[in-house]
Amino acid sequence: MSAKPKVLATRNFPPNVMERLLHDYDVKTNDADDHLDANAILNLSEDVDAIMSSPTNPFDRALIEALPDNVKIITTFSVGYDHLDVEAAKKKGILLGNTPDVLTDATADIAILCMLGAARRAHTSARILRNGEWTRWSANQFLGVQVTGKRLAILGMGRIGQAVARRAKGFDMEIHYHNRRPVSAHGLEDAIYHDNLDSLLQNAEFLSINCGLSDDTFHLMNDTTIASMPDGAVLVNTARGPIVDDSALIRSLKSGKLAAAGLDVFENEPNLNPDYLDLDNLFVLPHIGSATHETRDAMGYKSLDNLDAYFAGKPIPSPITA
Ligand code: DGY
Repeated sequence: MSAKPKVLATRNFPPNVMERLLHDYDVKTNDADDHLDANAILNLSEDVDAIMSSPTNPFDRALIEALPDNVKIITTFSVGYDHLDVEAAKKKGILLGNTPDVLTDATADIAILCMLGAARRAHTSARILRNGEWTRWSANQFLGVQVTGKRLAILGMGRIGQAVARRAKGFDMEIHYHNRRPVSAHGLEDAIYHDNLDSLLQNAEFLSINCGLSDDTFHLMNDTTIASMPDGAVLVNTARGPIVDDSALIRSLKSGKLAAAGLDVFENEPNLNPDYLDLDNLFVLPHIGSATHETRDAMGYKSLDNLDAYFAGKPIPSPITA
């Protein structure tokens, strides 16, 4: 019987995923789930055939170029791959895989939670209640922004953007979107396409950010673009933190230009900009878009399907090619 391929698991993945990984591969685990920096990854990679990683482990050009030649494939436990230098991997002949599709619904659910949480002031009202500070019902207390019937602008109409749009239609929202190309998607035939960001933002009573992070989208939402949104709009980001310039968002929340923001992601995770903490019109979560038992297991299985296919000499089901 031939030896099992060796895999470095940079994180401690969910138990069901670890069970299959440990059964099928010879695994270097990170049971403590410690942060592995580039040097640690390099040291641990000296004799592995594959790496199963996550967005918390950036594989930039320098790290990819320094990896030993025995590393043939890196599969990331995520749909996003802004932490991987795709060009460098291609040049080095390292195959990259990710986990699309399986986290679409969970992430779209969280976008709706952020939208409602921000618009309806869930954070402030729950905090006041929990602190024992709620003394009486009042007709003028905790007033938020009505969601039903508003215009929702979606930036990035891929799988997750479409899933957000479908959910929002349940709130009778009018869907607007900006994407490289118009999409024709079942149930979204009446969604209104904008071929430029400014036109989208002018309609963004609510904005849901669902595009990937790249050089083109870094700080795409900044002082200038936020200024294009209607006064009193609500911004929701469940994609990647650096698409929004946090300082600009904080300014717009402080000034009242935006009524509220709902974030599942922010710059410099896990360190939330302390200026956010003073803001009652922020609803913020610690990057839990895909955090359900079902979804995290499915993400792990997708990563393992990539490894299984590679070591069986077949094309991997979810390659990163962009
Ligand atoms: C992803 O898959 O890119 C998510 O951000 C991880 O939850």
